[in-house]
Amino acid sequence: MSPSVFPVDPQAPDPALLEAAGAQVRAGNLVAFATETVYGLGADATNPDAVARIFEAKGRPPTNPLIVHVADVEGARACVAQWPEPADRLSRFWPGPLTLVLPRSPRIAEAVSAGLETVGIRVPASKAALGLIRQAGRPIAAPSANRSNRTSPTRAEHILKDAEFARKIAVVLDSGPTSAGIESTVLDLSQGPPYRVLRPGPLTAEFLAGATGLPIESAPADAPGLSPGQLSIHYAPTTPTAWVERGELARFPWPARSVLVLLGPIEPGTLTPELPPTHPLPDPNHAESALFDLLHRLDAADLDLIAISPPPDEPAWRAVRDRVRRATGRG
Ligand code: TXA
Ligand code: MG
Repeated sequence: MSPSVFPVDPQAPDPALLEAAGAQVRAGNLVAFATETVYGLGADATNPDAVARIFEAKGRPPTNPLIVHVADVEGARACVAQWPEPADRLSRFWPGPLTLVLPRSPRIAEAVSAGLETVGIRVPASKAALGLIRQAGRPIAAPSANRSNRTSPTRAEHILKDAEFARKIAVVLDSGPTSAGIESTVLDLSQGPPYRVLRPGPLTAEFLAGATGLPIESAPADAPGLSPGQLSIHYAPTTPTAWVERGELARFPWPARSVLVLLGPIEPGTLTPELPPTHPLPDPNHAESALFDLLHRLDAADLDLIAISPPPDEPAWRAVRDRVRRATGRG
C-alpha cells in the first residue's frame, strides 16, 4: 500500500488531519512529518512493536538509537530518569534543533535506546510536528525518514519517490520544505562536564557554550564511535559521490556526466570552463538548508558523479562538513 498523503499548512495545520495522523501513531503505525530540520519517521516511543517497525522500514541497525520528540519540557521530563540542571539551561533552545542525551525513563521502549541507558530527546520547532505529538498523546520516536545511510528528506517528495520504502508508512504529513535542512545538534548531558556534542548540527558547541556558560565541547571530527549513528558512510546519494578539494579541481578526471557542488567561498580563478556544471553554496546557513534537497535532485538526474568540494574547516561549516564527509565516505 502507498501512504495517505495529508497536505497541511505549515503555519496552521488542520487539527482534523493531525488528529487522524495522531490516531495512526496510537495504533502503532508509522507517520512521517516535517520538523524544522528534516522529515522524521515517527512511531509511539512507548510501544516496542511500533518502534520495531521504524527499524524494519529503514533497515536500521538495532545498535543505532532513535531520538524521541516531545511537545514541551514537561513532556521531556516524562521520558527521562533524571533532569539535571544543565538540561534546564539548554531547554531554552526548544522548540529547536537541539537533542539532549539524558538517562532514559523505563516508560520509553528499550529499543528506542538501542541497548543504551540513555535517550535522546528534543522539542521540534514545527507546528505540524508539535500538533501531531499533542494529538497522539505520546512521545514520538523518529529518525530521519529515509532508508538507513541515505540522504535525509527535507521535502515529502523525497520520501515518496522511494515507493518501496514509502509503502511502510501509514500517513505522510506534507507541510512543505523544512527550514533548517540539516539534522539537530546532539549533545550528551549523561556524561561530563565537559559536555560533548556527539553530532554537529545547526547549533554549534561554541554558540551553546557562550549562550549558557556551560562547558560544551565539539567532538573532534574523527572521534570513533561517539554517537552510534555516526557511521562513516551515511547521508549518501545512490550516485557515486566524491570529495574533491579545491586544489584538485583543475586536474580531476571528470566522467562524462558529472556535476560539482561547490561549498564555501568562491575564490577568484576557482570557476574555469573545464569544470562540470557547478552548484555554488557559498553561505553556511543557506548551505545547511539547501544541501540535502540539492543532493536528492542531483541523485535523480542520472549522473556518473556528484563531486563535492568541501567548505573551510570552520565552526560555521562544521555540520555541513560532517554530512559531506559521510556522504562521500570520508568519514
Ligand atoms: O533533526 C533531527 O535530529 C532529526 C529529526 C527527525 O528530529 N532526526 C534524526 O534522527 O536525525 P536520526 O535517527 O537520523 O539520527 C539520530 C542521531 C544518531 O546519530 C544517533 O546515534 C544519535 O542521534 N542518538 C540518538 N539517541 C542517542 C543516545 N541515547 N546516545 C547517543 N546518541 C544518540
Ligand atoms: Mg538519519
